[in-house]
Amino acid sequence: MTRFAHITGWGMAVPEKVLTNEDIARMVDTTDDWIVSRTGIRERRIASQDQSSASLATDAALKALEVADLKPREVDLIIVATSSPEYLFPATACVVQDQIGAKKAGAFDLSAACTGFIFAVNMAAQAIQSGAIDNALVIGAETLSRLTNWQDRNTCILFGDGAGAFVLQMSYEPGGVLSAVMRSDGSGGNSLYVPAGGSRIPTTAETVAQGLHYIHMNGREVYRFATRVMTQATQEAVADAKLKMEDIDLIIPHQANQRIIEAAARGLDFPMEKVISNVDRYGNTSTASIPIATCEAFKDGRLHPGDKIVFVGFGAGLTWGAAVAQWTGPVTVRRRHYLPPSYRAWARLRSILRRLMRRIEGLIWGRYLYL
Ligand code: ACO
Repeated sequence: MTRFAHITGWGMAVPEKVLTNEDIARMVDTTDDWIVSRTGIRERRIASQDQSSASLATDAALKALEVADLKPREVDLIIVATSSPEYLFPATACVVQDQIGAKKAGAFDLSAACTGFIFAVNMAAQAIQSGAIDNALVIGAETLSRLTNWQDRNTCILFGDGAGAFVLQMSYEPGGVLSAVMRSDGSGGNSLYVPAGGSRIPTTAETVAQGLHYIHMNGREVYRFATRVMTQATQEAVADAKLKMEDIDLIIPHQANQRIIEAAARGLDFPMEKVISNVDRYGNTSTASIPIATCEAFKDGRLHPGDKIVFVGFGAGLTWGAAVAQWTGPVTVRRRHYLPPSYRAWARLRSILRRLMRRIEGLIWGRYLYL
């Protein structure tokens, strides 16, 4: 029998701290008007000192598991797509695996910048469809504020922190992830990158002094690339799913820039009313932007069982991709597992205690990064 990979759980976690355009205008030479007219962004969330990519990922994952009514120990695979991992290694996914108690899950990180969430959904869906696994947790989690140069007005206006997660589960009912395209062009790597801290340019006092550990970006090049590939990838994924654009109920694009989203919709001749955008409130949360936008679309009643949706994104690498899915909701896949109500409270307490421990450790070593 054919196996399908359904999206049965979703969750998001964003920091409480809001950084408005006016706040940024007090830090660099910019204005609210400039930022809104060029990007559509009005505010973004910034992680507190005791939050990190893994803590946000854990919160989002627990919410997604609750929606799917799935026990953490039933999860076979955890993929965290991130460009701002907890450490160079071990993988952020392993930290999440430990924090939620997913004892039998294999866990790894996927690095494809903002396109990472789409790549990760595709990898998890392929593993489910092949029969290798039944249940996967796919997370996009970022604290890009830690890699942002808050003196560089070209980049610091764009990014925000947050995490979003999907649970993917096997079902013999048709639906779920129907197709995906994944594309890369490494020749454009230096239009958006963090130059130092890897094996090419190891960390030294000079690299820190030169700001080489921050995000460097050629905004115009990325803009041109993005408007071209969003349309292409959507058309390819829709055709691979043997559908037409008229069959698509909703597009949930990567939230980088309102002008890029609108240009893609124009290129596809697709009505903007059927395109989700929340870039005004969160900025570009990279891998987290698509699952966060999905959670909000669901909350706003814009996703219904049977709807055909396109996830589409682009990012550093350069990478780009799209996936078509038929929305399931949490009810179609049989509820096989019971998540005790006390579980989330316990997992949260555990996560707070660990964060406290890390904070104490950080204070001892004097290595805390403040905005
Ligand atoms: N406030 C005021 N002026 C600014 C600001 C600012 N925050 N930033 C740049 N400017 C200036 C520039 O210095 C430039 O001045 P100049 O002409 O005197 O040199 C002028 O404004 C115009 O700059 P442009 O770069 O041409 O502005 P543009 O209209 O292209 O908008 C932007 C810039 C918003 C960055 C746009 O290019 C963009 O969104 N690009 C895509 C970026 C992106 O999405 N990156 C994330 C990819 S996803 C991932 O993998 C993380």
